[in-house]
Amino acid sequence: MSSITKKYDPVKYKTPTGTRLNCKGWIQEAAYRMLLNNLDPEVAERPDDLIVYGGRGKAARNFECLDLILKALKVLEDDETLLIQSGKPVAMLKTHRDAPRVLISNSQLVPKWATWEHFDELEKKGLMMYGQMTAGSWIYIGSQGIVQGTYETYAAVATTHFCHPDAGRISTQTPGQRPTTNDQQHTAASLKGTLNVSAGLGGMGGAQPLAITMNEGVALIAEVEEWRIDKRIETRYLDEKYTNIDEAIDAAMQYKKDGTAKSIGVLCNAVHLLQRLVERNIIPDTLTDQTSAHDPLIGYVPHILTNEQANILRKENPEQYIERSYESMYLHVQLMLQLMDKGAITFDYGNNIRARAQEYEVKSRESGVGSRKHDSRTNSDSELLTTDYKLNRCFDFPGFVPAYIRPLFCLGKGPFRWAALSGDPDDIRITDDVILSLFPHDKGLHRWMKMAQEKIAFQGLPARICWIGQGDREKAGLAFNELVRSGKVKAPIVIGRDHLDTGSVASPNRETEAMLDGSDAVADWPILNALVNTAGGASWVSLHHGGGVGMGYSIHAGMVIVADGTDEAAARLSRVLRNDPGLGVIRHADAGYDIAKETAKNNNLDIIDRLRM
Ligand SMILES: NC(=O)c1ccc[n+]([C@@H]2O[C@H](COP(=O)([O-])OP(=O)(O)OC[C@H]3O[C@@H](n4cnc5c(N)ncnc54)[C@H](O)[C@@H]3O)[C@@H](O)[C@H]2O)c1
Repeated sequence: MSSITKKYDPVKYKTPTGTRLNCKGWIQEAAYRMLLNNLDPEVAERPDDLIVYGGRGKAARNFECLDLILKALKVLEDDETLLIQSGKPVAMLKTHRDAPRVLISNSQLVPKWATWEHFDELEKKGLMMYGQMTAGSWIYIGSQGIVQGTYETYAAVATTHFCHPDAGRISTQTPGQRPTTNDQQHTAASLKGTLNVSAGLGGMGGAQPLAITMNEGVALIAEVEEWRIDKRIETRYLDEKYTNIDEAIDAAMQYKKDGTAKSIGVLCNAVHLLQRLVERNIIPDTLTDQTSAHDPLIGYVPHILTNEQANILRKENPEQYIERSYESMYLHVQLMLQLMDKGAITFDYGNNIRARAQEYEVKSRESGVGSRKHDSRTNSDSELLTTDYKLNRCFDFPGFVPAYIRPLFCLGKGPFRWAALSGDPDDIRITDDVILSLFPHDKGLHRWMKMAQEKIAFQGLPARICWIGQGDREKAGLAFNELVRSGKVKAPIVIGRDHLDTGSVASPNRETEAMLDGSDAVADWPILNALVNTAGGASWVSLHHGGGVGMGYSIHAGMVIVADGTDEAAARLSRVLRNDPGLGVIRHADAGYDIAKETAKNNNLDIIDRLRM
């Protein structure tokens, strides 16, 4: 049962399109198509390993399980539910027509055992799979799935810190401060004339360059794998590739000076890019990172190894690889802190790199190996490692959610997305028009949709993402159902979202970092989210552990619902698309956020109001 022995077969696993059913109903068919779509080479990062994105985020445990899931979906009746345990189909049970057709649980471990070490042991024995977020819940749609979130984050960065074009730069956040942002307003602003540095051009990180140029800034992104840079250029997410760090920096500085929106991928380790910026005293305007630091073994490449050396060491001596990764991530964070101290607006972009650096620092101190005394492997490393770091600073820069995104969560906003099961891009154009006409006064949404239509190339099944909130998701879902009912689109529309959403995740270093009431680690909310979406009749529901930030750090739930044009679907869409973001509003209101309390009242979600009636 090993995925290494088999390779992805593009003919066998081609996503079906059109109106002919392979399964017994459109909901099963939607799961069938979306699972295959997750693995489409245009969509997935490494289909040969069943890896969709985010380090080792997989869609199925191995190829045998993939075949079994596909077979099960073909025979599944309209009143049955298929159960998936960490990427493996384990049962098809009698339920009812309004129940989810698939229930998925991925990577769950009892809290005391919830470590990468234990997970790795289980994975080696073939007992588990890492589902990341949308990988194991079959609603990944390529880099577009994250691009609007990244765009919104950089727009909020611009609004918070830069006043464009003539008023000069306004910084409302002192370095290291964790802002409480429940009163921020997200209005249009620009990153014109700014240098925005990051690393990682993988499935999610690949959205950074486009999101930055959409905000009119210059992006300079380090990436160790050349094919990833090429893939982002091919899919129009990235403009230029450099293999020389200094040349890349020079080009980026010129674009910054000219105020030209451009994105540059540079083939190097993040540590080396930051090191060079420090040496040249070039301070980025913004600084973050989207390497897969959540996973020290599979996701992060230590700076002292070439990519080829990394691939060998990972296999031959995983323990040593992990040590090297930790050292490198510590250095990486120290360099980010140095640049932040010199004025770079610095934030964590959801990969848990701060926690990895802190874990390293604590471990080094406990074992008496001061981080500064670490053996130096190259001259430049020894210079860096003798820098007089201040300890206890790994969390001095904030995460992107408390800094920029939480106000959106309080409105029930999040990464709502949909895909056309017909495979016809015209169907998405029709849904785009519906969204624009449903929300004529939402200028930000109109700006986003226009840019998305112009700049985003579809990967796999045509799809769209758009951050909409409480009330609006339900309206959109019902309108899409009408499009299917009236035959204006050629086949049903599948609707879902990322797990990185308002009410579906507990992740204290990311989505629930620095909650007003300190409830960061309370994981009842994602469990309630999965339960209420199951009760409401979502088409498939998933509950995952460890997505985004790694084992032990998060619990989160996903949901997908199919608009097939029937009355039954309309009733389910109405329930699910109201309750799903609604729980997010309730969660944030419960934590004390005023915007969420107001949103709850306006949408009849306030429990005290209801009980008073
Ligand atoms: N902010 C968000 O909204 C969000 C959403 C989802 C995931 N994430 C997190 O972002 C991270 C990236 O996700 P992804 O899907 O792009 O992962 P991925 O594994 O597909 O890509 C990671 C990329 O980083 C590169 N890389 C690794 N170490 C490097 C180094 N030291 N220097 C330069 N490049 C290096 C890899 O070659 C790879 O291309 C993950 O930790 C993920 O959990 C963030």
